[in-house]
Amino acid sequence: MTCLHVLTGATSGLGLAAARRLAERTGDRILVGARAPDRAVALRAAVPADRLEILPLDTGSRRSVHAFVAEARARVRAGESGRGDVASVLCIAGAQALGPQEFTEDGIDAVFAANALGHVALVDGLRDLLAPGAAVVTTGSGTHDPANRLAARAGFRGAVYRDARAAALGRDSAGDDRAGDDEMGEEDGGRDALGRALDRYATSKLCAIYHAAAASGEPGFAGARLACFDPGLMPGTGLARDRGPTLRFAWRRVMPLLRHAVEGVSSAERSARALVDGLVLGGMTFASGDCVEFTGRPAPISAQAADRAAAARFLAEARTLWPAPPAMEAGPPSASPLPSAPRLRTG
Ligand SMILES: NC(=O)c1ccc[n+]([C@@H]2O[C@H](COP(=O)([O-])OP(=O)(O)OC[C@H]3O[C@@H](n4cnc5c(N)ncnc54)[C@H](OP(=O)(O)O)[C@@H]3O)[C@@H](O)[C@H]2O)c1
Repeated sequence: MTCLHVLTGATSGLGLAAARRLAERTGDRILVGARAPDRAVALRAAVPADRLEILPLDTGSRRSVHAFVAEARARVRAGESGRGDVASVLCIAGAQALGPQEFTEDGIDAVFAANALGHVALVDGLRDLLAPGAAVVTTGSGTHDPANRLAARAGFRGAVYRDARAAALGRDSAGDDRAGDDEMGEEDGGRDALGRALDRYATSKLCAIYHAAAASGEPGFAGARLACFDPGLMPGTGLARDRGPTLRFAWRRVMPLLRHAVEGVSSAERSARALVDGLVLGGMTFASGDCVEFTGRPAPISAQAADRAAAARFLAEARTLWPAPPAMEAGPPSASPLPSAPRLRTG
């Protein structure tokens, strides 16, 4: 039986390189969730058509994640073990939105939803279909760590996290003040709007670490290999799309040269090799729930990220923010647990 790999974020950067690597190294089927399947030109060029399927998925939308899970489940085959044939779930989609804060239709911070919450719902929705030994990988980042010097140079100060509910509001407190950047004025503890956007990204990446760590301890994931993968700094990907023209030029043309000289700098291709060969195909040894970097070494993580009790609280709380549908089938999502959701901002 051929296996199925489920990927998010495979239209560009790391995810695209990972899909290409999977296609080169295995004869397996690849199922990608993408916001715009029609525009996934590079992905279609990277993976043979008879092994690739692309379904619509916005990881920041509960409705979309649940619909994707229902469609994905219809494509999974039962193996001899009675489990499904899902050999890996690679949660790579991630956005670093640097404009004004946006909220989803459920009233959740859009970056937290797309980078963290959507992947919790996706992985939970496929949990019982994982083949024995399946790899489930979330994508972290050194930006979560206040001690990361490369990230600090780009303006990050580490994650600002108290609990999942506050993170869902894009705030560092557990309070219920839901005003966005516009209402907050210019300053927030010395942080301007750009700084707060960087904080929200870094916080979502702390939650990616928590996700893998907490799920690895659950009976429902026994037999799976969970990890949070830190791909290093990968200049040249689409991640800097919200930056100004000068920085975008440096990101695409200059910074890629640093990977030969600066520790912590990688490329999408190099990190994808580590992800696929090491974590998915078993070339690296790691304990389930660990954070692993592109070099194959344990990724340096902050003391806050290493707190397994906090990780378990995060996962439990995340599930209450986006409850799973009653059955794992497409259907109308239940009511939002966050009252009076702010309207979606597009500016
Ligand atoms: N580049 C770095 O230095 C770096 C460092 C550490 C960690 N990371 C992480 O690595 C991962 C890949 O980033 P990258 O650098 O390869 O960036 P990228 O080239 O911008 O790729 C991001 C991918 O995520 C997808 N995506 C974003 N928001 C989505 C949503 N709401 N729903 C579905 N898909 C969504 C994008 O799809 P569309 O085509 O629809 O936009 C794209 O395929 C991210 O999780 C990022 O946080 C990157």
